[in-house]
Amino acid sequence: MSGHGDPVPMIARKGAALCGVAEVPGDKSISHRALILGALSVGRTEITGLLEGQDVLDTAKAMQAFGATVERLGPGHWIVDGVGVGGFAEPADVIDCGNSGTGVRLIMGAMATSPINATFTGDASLRKRPMGRVTDPLALFGAQAVGREGGRLPLTLVGARNPVPVRYVLPVPSAQVKSAVLLAGLNAPGQTVVVEAEATRDHTERMLKGFGAELSVEDTPEGRVITLQGRPELTGQSVAVPRDPSSAAFPVCAALIVPGSEIVVPGVSQNPTRNGLFTTLVEMGADIAFENPREEGGEPVADLRVRHSALKGIEVPAERAASMIDEYPVLAAVASLAEGTTVMRGVKELRVKESDRIDAMARGLEACGVTVEEERDVLVVHGRGAAGVPGGAIVATHIDHRIAMSFLVLGLVTDRPVAVDDASPIATSFPVFGDLMRGLGADVAEGSL
Ligand code: S3P
Repeated sequence: MSGHGDPVPMIARKGAALCGVAEVPGDKSISHRALILGALSVGRTEITGLLEGQDVLDTAKAMQAFGATVERLGPGHWIVDGVGVGGFAEPADVIDCGNSGTGVRLIMGAMATSPINATFTGDASLRKRPMGRVTDPLALFGAQAVGREGGRLPLTLVGARNPVPVRYVLPVPSAQVKSAVLLAGLNAPGQTVVVEAEATRDHTERMLKGFGAELSVEDTPEGRVITLQGRPELTGQSVAVPRDPSSAAFPVCAALIVPGSEIVVPGVSQNPTRNGLFTTLVEMGADIAFENPREEGGEPVADLRVRHSALKGIEVPAERAASMIDEYPVLAAVASLAEGTTVMRGVKELRVKESDRIDAMARGLEACGVTVEEERDVLVVHGRGAAGVPGGAIVATHIDHRIAMSFLVLGLVTDRPVAVDDASPIATSFPVFGDLMRGLGADVAEGSL
């Protein structure tokens, strides 16, 4: 199965220690937001370090369809001439967000309070994912979603003609839902309020303030209360996109498990809403030094020096889930090599990602000879420690980039190689993954068992 073309099988084999510097590309979440806020601003936004993954390219194309001018000046260097809050034009064609849940959900929010209609679709993975979590709160503003049973794409969103502001308590910890509501609130008069019981990634809040919105965040017994004043004039900004900690996770985890490795991954976000994996790895005994802490593109970052480490299984608390939600697949791969059992709780949101990631990891790890247990909200991996992981399997990736990369990392240490049936989705978030890993000395290549 492939979202954008023929499947590309890929294989990873045990090889030499990894060494060198791993410069991972720009943050996917921040890249989407920079394009969308640029399109909603008056004047020019200049973006450097933009992730040129397919997900983000699809969002760039969508912003053009809504009337913004989006131009690529060079690698990662883009400009957006925006149309201002409330200035979106009605797109002349269907908006295809490809594989990207973030893209489609944020864009639906951004257009929901404009007097226009738009029809959204995506690839086979995105068409299976729930959209009701976004269209329900957007209906409170006055927007109307018309589409398939069960709130799946394709769907048409009829923007609110007379939007009203909303107070919304998030029923699921989701930065995408929070962001969709805040972006819709931009073109509603008065104050839109979002309450989240658990803190999720806060890039939308940070960036909205940076573009000139009046937004406050208060920690209360009910949770994080975010208040946005509607109808601001956003002005174009310069945005330097920091590197993606969710992409950094793959070389970091690879270096931890491949004997003799030592790598440096520069400029990795230490934003507390994103750094749960690194906290977890350190608890497992990972040798990670956080060097040169500083600020880049409005985010706290550090250079990570990572050395091969003997890891032990731990309990990952449910409260940490939001801060490492995209990193559980690679953590599960690493946990299979640890001494002892790793219990991951509070992970049910993984079931509605690009694939059901609990199921995909459980089946793939079992095929590689690892014992796992799963419940709806829990994944347990019985680490094989010194016994090592047999491997020797072709794993189904279900159009999911992070499942593909997680098993290619695992295959660097298994007794027999590990192949994935389709590595093409890796291009959605980390198009240089193969080259970067080979540059560190990893044996990953197109091919199969
Ligand atoms: C994202 C939020 C998370 C994450 C996704 C990116 C974002 O999704 O899994 O990869 O940029 O807001 P949820 O909001 O569904 O948790």
